[in-house]
Amino acid sequence: MNKKIIWDQSFETGIAEIDTQHQRLVEIINSLADGIVQASMDDLHNILTQLKEYANYHFRAEETLMEAAGYAGLEEHKSEHLAFVDQILLFDLDVILASEGLAWDMFHFLRGWLTNHILVVDKKFSTAMSA
Ligand code: FEO
Repeated sequence: MNKKIIWDQSFETGIAEIDTQHQRLVEIINSLADGIVQASMDDLHNILTQLKEYANYHFRAEETLMEAAGYAGLEEHKSEHLAFVDQILLFDLDVILASEGLAWDMFHFLRGWLTNHILVVDKKFSTAMSA
């Protein structure tokens, strides 16, 4: 079974800047799947640092667009972003990355969160913008 996220049209919000950034987040999370199988511990740490930094960059960019658009769901959406970054910070990587099973659990969490967030939560914004 392919564990990676397969990007397809269903992920598109129709907002080019957001879609490009989402594709980058998908690439980073997918690189974790490769990394669990073959990368060093340092590489895995670096991938997760990259994910945290790029997620922060993307969330700020998305929230700026929402603010400019006067989006009513902004505060709720910000809370979701914050909870995701907090969760990444809570991962005890030395413990998780020492066990392939725990590393896959973390990957599945990240994959599930991102796909649900894009398909459900971010789409609420793009739908509101196109209404
Ligand atoms: Fe695209 Fe709300 O993150």
